[in-house]
Amino acid sequence: MAEPRLLELPVRSGDRLDDALARMAGRLAVALDVVGEDAGARFLRGLPGAGAPGPADGGCLDLPSGPTQPVDRLVAGLALGTAERDLLALVLVGSHHEGVAAVLRGLHPQGRPWPTVGLAGSLAELGGLPGAPSRAAVRPALAGLLATGTVVVQDDDAPYPERTLRPAPHLFDALTGLAGWPSGVEPDPRPLPAAGSGGWLGDEVVGGARRAVERGLPVSVVLAGARPGPLAGRLATLAATAGREPVLLRVDRCDSTTVSAVLLLALVRGTVPVLWTDVEPPRLRLTVPGLPVPLLLAAPGTGLCTWPRPVLVLPSGPHPPADRSAALDAALPELGRPPGPLGPATLEPGDVELAAADVRLRAALVRTATGWDEVSARVDAQAVDTVPVGATLVHPRAGWGDLVIPADRLTQLHEAADRVRVQSQVLDDWGLLRGRRGLRGLRMLFAGPPGTGKTLAAEVLAGELGRDLLVVDLSQLVSKWIGETEKNLAAVFDAAERGGSALLFDEADALFGKRTEVGDARDRYANLETAYLLARLERFDGIAVLATNLRQNLDTAFARRIEFVVPFDPPDEAARLALWRAHLSGGAPLAPDVDLPLLAAVYELPGALIRNAALAAAFLAAAEPAPEDRRIGMAHLAHAVRREHLKAGLSYPGPPPGTPADPPTRRGAP
Ligand SMILES: Nc1ncnc2c1ncn2[C@@H]1O[C@H](COP(=O)(O)OP(=O)(O)OP(=O)(O)O)[C@@H](O)[C@H]1O
Ligand SMILES: [Mg+2]
Repeated sequence: MAEPRLLELPVRSGDRLDDALARMAGRLAVALDVVGEDAGARFLRGLPGAGAPGPADGGCLDLPSGPTQPVDRLVAGLALGTAERDLLALVLVGSHHEGVAAVLRGLHPQGRPWPTVGLAGSLAELGGLPGAPSRAAVRPALAGLLATGTVVVQDDDAPYPERTLRPAPHLFDALTGLAGWPSGVEPDPRPLPAAGSGGWLGDEVVGGARRAVERGLPVSVVLAGARPGPLAGRLATLAATAGREPVLLRVDRCDSTTVSAVLLLALVRGTVPVLWTDVEPPRLRLTVPGLPVPLLLAAPGTGLCTWPRPVLVLPSGPHPPADRSAALDAALPELGRPPGPLGPATLEPGDVELAAADVRLRAALVRTATGWDEVSARVDAQAVDTVPVGATLVHPRAGWGDLVIPADRLTQLHEAADRVRVQSQVLDDWGLLRGRRGLRGLRMLFAGPPGTGKTLAAEVLAGELGRDLLVVDLSQLVSKWIGETEKNLAAVFDAAERGGSALLFDEADALFGKRTEVGDARDRYANLETAYLLARLERFDGIAVLATNLRQNLDTAFARRIEFVVPFDPPDEAARLALWRAHLSGGAPLAPDVDLPLLAAVYELPGALIRNAALAAAFLAAAEPAPEDRRIGMAHLAHAVRREHLKAGLSYPGPPPGTPADPPTRRGAP
């Protein structure tokens, strides 16, 4: 076959894909010569660059000699040989020029702008595909391309030569710098947070993932949590710190076809895909598992399998308080120093960016003064979706200093916090308890009368460990419907595990009262539910606190599974004084007659009632008609204390000696 006569226009566009497609168009002219399509052949030969000399191997796609272009990333990433490259150019050639598309339509049995398998074979026979010198030699090259997912064969019911060869959806877009992803894949415009992931990035496993991303290794990296969208922001930050360009995408279906297509397009674009999905990713069979593009995925669970491509599961626990403050500081520098971390512990730096944008927009539109309170409300709104029915999410604010309990109890709580902190060292590094169940997590029992600080202590502990507290009232959660309790409990444990929150079961006695001898049907089910709670507690690897007023009822089966039992006793006189001081310590003005030691000595109140009385006395004082009376005096306190006794059904021992029972403005009030 003689070399076709080429109209020599030495045009080089500088775009290697364009040059290659022009050369391929020139070769296609030979096929038109054969069928006597002279006008078409002349047109193809006349295209700029159609006759430009190609690379030494006779193929039409030049080897890179300058900076890498998208087509080079594709060829190198898939290690395409000469024949595969030429075949790919043939499949793409209709996108080069509308005239070439018209020529292809003329050659296609159904008038489509793509080549058929038969056209590829004929071109090979005519010498247009030097890497594949015969019709038979096209087959392995085609098989190679099909295996990469770059080319698809259509019209399966047509005779083999009449089947259509099409490029993968959006491949040409990616090769030419245009946007576009497969259906069900949406770019997510979430901003890349400026700060707030420092601690997480410092984690050893995360560091390993960063190195893999930096080198473009074929690995899958998973981050699992209840809120995959915001979590994906962490992965995008990871890619950015590895010096790679992340592209954040939300996928409706996390299936093999979608993920393979995304990886291929990301390879061409030179980006690192960060996917997030609300569905549990199944076992994926990636088209090219070894494609040198890391896959970063945030999902509700860790169940991703991309075998033989390895999967790296990253820790997804809450950011430490310092990072959460740093995120606020970076997102809203105009508000000055943040008061500390705001919002739930599951908050991501990306949430903070979004909340900051909301707050700024509102301030600009409504001209409201913006403060941290408003930011706090906005960030709270970002994470409401994670709280199961029957539970309340508390963002701990209290610290050790707010808790008035005897020193030995405080030590116990500190030990418990330490236990969580060093858990991985003892269990993983030192290998203690290896292979035994129920190793992780921390189960505690707080037992004591109402209002002695059990809930407060749970809050302090959770806050100390950078977690939210999910408070569950067991007496409400226990359902009269058989089987519902177990479902409710399961939802609570799952939510706590996903959000990394500590669990507080209030009124825990509702379930763990002595397991009754099997009596009527309801008893039997109560026992089943107890058994479920026991089993689930044992598997729970977070922090669970059971609070009860009735310690003696604790079932031995529970006791065995609980690492710390902390008794909460009614406060003694010294503790009561400390409580009065703590609860009146804000900026409230006190009258000179206030005698806190006297109050502590006379009234044997628990902390909660002291807190209530202090607060009520402050309200009474603030509402005094005369400005000079607006400070908390002994009479306000006595009045408030009497109210607390009444409310709690306690007998009131009378006002402290030498103190009027009520302030003058409240005489006669109940
Ligand atoms: N030991 C304490 N130290 C400091 N404050 C306390 C203490 N006990 C109670 N308080 C105050 O009372 C409030 C209510 O107490 P808390 O809810 O922790 O009691 P509780 O033991 O959980 O009661 P209950 O058994 O009714 O659930 C606390 O938020 C705190 O302000
Ligand atoms: Mg409580």
